[in-house]
Amino acid sequence: MSFYHLKTQKIIVNFLLALFLTLLPVKIFAQDNADAVITYRQSLMYNLQRNLNSISEILKGNIDQQSHLAGLASILNISAAQSVDAFKQKVPNNGKSKAKPNIWQNQDDFNLEMQSLIRETAELVKLAESNDIKAFSAQLGVVGKNCASCHKAYKNR
Ligand code: HEC
Repeated sequence: MSFYHLKTQKIIVNFLLALFLTLLPVKIFAQDNADAVITYRQSLMYNLQRNLNSISEILKGNIDQQSHLAGLASILNISAAQSVDAFKQKVPNNGKSKAKPNIWQNQDDFNLEMQSLIRETAELVKLAESNDIKAFSAQLGVVGKNCASCHKAYKNR
C-alpha cells in the first residue's frame, strides 16, 4: 500500500468518525430534550401546588405566618407566567406526561386559561399586601377554579 493511499484512508476514517460524533448528540439531545421539557413544565405545576398547600395551612390557622402570604402568592404568579413559555414547545407525551395533545391544537385557548391564572394570582398578591384575609380566601377559591378548569380541558387524570 502506498503512502498516499494510507493517508486517504486515514482522512476518510477521520471524516466518518467526526460525522458520527456530530450526529450522535443530536439524536440523544432530541430524546433528552423531550424529557426535560416535560420535567420542566411539571415542576412549575408542582410549584403551584406546593404554594397552594402552604397558603392553605396558613389560612386554616395551622401555621402562624400571615406575613408569608404575599410572597407565596407572588410565587404562584411567577410560576403561572413561566408556565406560558413552558408549554409552548409541542411535547405531548412520552408516557410520563399527562398533557393532552389538544393543548397544541387550541393553543390560544390554553394560553387564555394560563393568562387568566396570571391575572387572578396577581390579584391574590394585591389582597395579601392589603391584609384583607377574607377577600384573599375568596380569591384563592377563584384561583383553584382556574386550575381545575384548565386541567379538565387539557390534562389527563
Ligand atoms: C392553562 C392550563 C393549566 C392551568 C391554569 C394549571 N395547570 Fe396544572 N397542569 C396542566 C397540564 C397540561 C398538566 C400536565 C403536564 C404534563 O404532565 O406534562 C398539569 C399538571 C399539573 C400537576 C402535576 C400533577 C398531575 O396531576 O399531573 C399539578 C400538581 C398541577 N398541574 C397543579 C396546578 C395548580 C395548583 C394550578 C393552579 C394554581 C394549575 N395546575 C393550573 C395545565 C394547567
